[in-house]
Amino acid sequence: MTHGVDLTAYNTMGFAVRAHDYVGISDWSAFLDWWRAPAQVRLHAQPRFILGGGSNLVLTQDIAALILHVQTRGIHEVRRDTKYVWCEVAAGESWHDWVMHTVAQGWAGIENLALIPGTVGACPVQNIGAYGMEAGQAIEYVSVLDFASGEMVRLSAEDCRFAYRDSLFKQAQYAGQARYLIASVCFKLQHDLSDWQASLGYGDVAQRVAELASGREVRPADVAQAVIAIRQSKLPDPKVLGNAGSFFKNPVVTQAQADELKARYEKLPCYPMSNGMVKLAAGWLIEQAGWKGKNSASGHVGVYEKQALVLVHHGGGTGAELMQLAHQIAEDVFKQFGVRIEPEPIVL
Ligand code: EPU
Repeated sequence: MTHGVDLTAYNTMGFAVRAHDYVGISDWSAFLDWWRAPAQVRLHAQPRFILGGGSNLVLTQDIAALILHVQTRGIHEVRRDTKYVWCEVAAGESWHDWVMHTVAQGWAGIENLALIPGTVGACPVQNIGAYGMEAGQAIEYVSVLDFASGEMVRLSAEDCRFAYRDSLFKQAQYAGQARYLIASVCFKLQHDLSDWQASLGYGDVAQRVAELASGREVRPADVAQAVIAIRQSKLPDPKVLGNAGSFFKNPVVTQAQADELKARYEKLPCYPMSNGMVKLAAGWLIEQAGWKGKNSASGHVGVYEKQALVLVHHGGGTGAELMQLAHQIAEDVFKQFGVRIEPEPIVL
C-alpha cells in the first residue's frame, strides 16, 4: 500500500487529486493473499474505491477511501467449438486493445465497441455499449472477489443482470460498498463467420463499412475501423482533451411524454425500447438548450463542440467546477423539456 498517490494520470478527465491509501493490483493471487491476511482485516470495513481505466470518473476532492487499482494482464483461450471461442481476459487489460485483438483473429462479437476507453474489468459494470451493441451480449461469465464472503465467485451473464448502462455490479452492495471486485471477464465470440451478420443498424456505420469493404465480404475488422473513424470524428481523445465520454445518460421517458415532446419538437431523436419506454438523445436536448461548445465562466471546463453529451476539461479546472456546469446544463434542459438528465460517470 502506498500513501499520497497523485491520481492525475489515472483519471481521463485529468483532475489533480490524491489518494491517501492506494493499492495497485498487478498479480491477482498475490493481492488475494494480502487482502485475506489477518493484518488487512481492519481494511475490510474501511471505505474503498475500485479504479480501472478511470475513464468514467469525476474526482472532486482528495480520496480518503482505499483505492484498489486493478492492473492485471492476460488473455487465455479456455474453450473452442466449431463456431465459438471462449476467452478469459484479465480485468486490467485495455478494452480497446482487447477488441483489436479479437478482430485481428477474425472473431466477431464486440467489434462495434472499438475505441471505448477504459479496462476490460470496467466493461461489465456499466455494460458499455455503442453503435447497436452492448458488452453484456458477448459475456459468458465474470469472475469476481465477493467482499461479503472473501471468496472468488463466477457470475453468469444472467446473474450480472445487464441492462442499458446498468448491471448487478452497479447495484450489489455489501456493508454500504460495492460488493464485487472483478478479476476477469470471459467472452464468447464467434470464429466461424459463415452465418455471421455485421451489426450495422446504427447511424452511418453501414455506409462506412461498405466503403471500407468495397465489394468484398465484410469482416469484423471493417466494422471496428468504421466505428473508430466515427468515434474519432465526434469524440475527443482523452489523451489530448480531458473527458469521460458521454457525461449524461440518455433519458428514458414514457411513450406519452415522448409523443408530447415530439409534437413540440419535430426533430427530437427518439429510440423506442423493448419495454415500451422511449430513449431520447441527451446530446440533442443539450444542444437545443444552447450549451454545445460553451465553456464555464472560468473557461476551465466546457461542453465539447462536436458532441454536446461530452463535457471536457481544458486544464486547470476541478471536478467541482465540472459538476457545477453539469448541474446548470441539466437545469436548463429540465426547464425547456421537462426531462431530467443524469450524469453517467461516477462522482467521487
Ligand atoms: N445529437 C445532437 N447534438 C449533439 C449530440 C447528438 O443533435 O451534440 C443527436 C445526433 O444527431 C443523433 C442523436 O443525438 O440524432 C444521438 O447521437 P449519437 O449517435 O452521437 O449518440 P448518443 O446517444 O449521443 C450514445 C452513447 C455513446 C455511444 C453512441 C453511439 C449514451 C449515454 N451514449 O451517444 O456512448 O458512443 O451512442 O452508440 O448512451 C459513452 O458512453 O461514453 C459513449 C460515448
